[in-house]
Amino acid sequence: METLQVGLGERSYPIKIGCGVINQIPRELKTHYQATKYCIVADDNVASLYGHALVDAIRLAGLDCELMIFHHGEESKTLETIADLASQAAQHGLDRKSIFIALGGGVTGDITGFLAACYLRGVPFIQIPTSLLAQVDSSVGGKTGVDIPEGKNLVGAFYQPQAVFIDTDVLQTLPSEEYLNGLAEVIKYGVIRDRNFFDYLHDNRKQILALDQQHVSSMIYHCCRIKAEVVAADEKESNLRRILNYGHTIGHAVEAASDFEIPHGFAVSIGMVAVAKISMNQALLPSDENQKQFDLLKEYGLPTEIPDNLARIKIKQYLLTDKKIVGGKITFVLPAQIGEVVFSDQVSEQEIDSVLTVE
Ligand code: GLY
Repeated sequence: METLQVGLGERSYPIKIGCGVINQIPRELKTHYQATKYCIVADDNVASLYGHALVDAIRLAGLDCELMIFHHGEESKTLETIADLASQAAQHGLDRKSIFIALGGGVTGDITGFLAACYLRGVPFIQIPTSLLAQVDSSVGGKTGVDIPEGKNLVGAFYQPQAVFIDTDVLQTLPSEEYLNGLAEVIKYGVIRDRNFFDYLHDNRKQILALDQQHVSSMIYHCCRIKAEVVAADEKESNLRRILNYGHTIGHAVEAASDFEIPHGFAVSIGMVAVAKISMNQALLPSDENQKQFDLLKEYGLPTEIPDNLARIKIKQYLLTDKKIVGGKITFVLPAQIGEVVFSDQVSEQEIDSVLTVE
């Protein structure tokens, strides 16, 4: 098991990565995370796969543990779910010294983290992410929250977990589309921050796509290392952390315009290609570097083009209502070379139109 640290002073926490990490949870809780009661939160799918077994293992270790289950899917990421889970937690008698455990993908982490931030004005929580996307991104950094009819993630809090436990074994049961979905965020880390890692992803793509344990562990370790560095430098996203939004401005608009039919990672892949093209057109990103990113996304089987049947006008409408627009300006994260990005609010509407147009 490899351990990284997210350095946030008294709110610092470890990220523990390895195969079979879930089996070590009861011992970890007993030794390092004592509580009056533990409460695992999982969706119905993950509860059947791992939730019931984990509750049993924790109870077998002599610890008091409950399991709360919600219906899987983004539709559950609502204030109603939070209210329902909070009621259940109160009925189970969870107090300020209890610990919530998010067991699942990004939706579960966001819901559980926000529940933990609100319940009794804040109780500790632990993340056990079970999707690649959650393992390399959403479980680290303390972004929690829910959707409201006006938009995704519009209600939430920065609330850091006590620890993140990443079991690479669970990826074996992940549908292959879900794995690919996470790989877009993995490639993103190489482009924004680490050229060596980008080259590693290129050189080892066969093993990574074949889910080779050692390569997958190493890949996740490097993503978490980069994310931990960025979060430690800028927890509340006032500056550096915005680099993590690379490809996301256009990506989110594509995702929303498709009524969320296009998965998040696929939309981010399309968004990365689009902004790299803007950067190249501005003579910031050399064309061979643009090609390198394009080729790597293709090699991993990720989409690089907006589907023809997606109305450009709809994408533009979503772009213009992006929640990250400040003072009427969209700040784009543009690559300057592989491993380095810059912020720019100097992207014209025509430049955006040019990358949205079908060629
Ligand atoms: N997923 C982007 C962030 O955590 O800042």
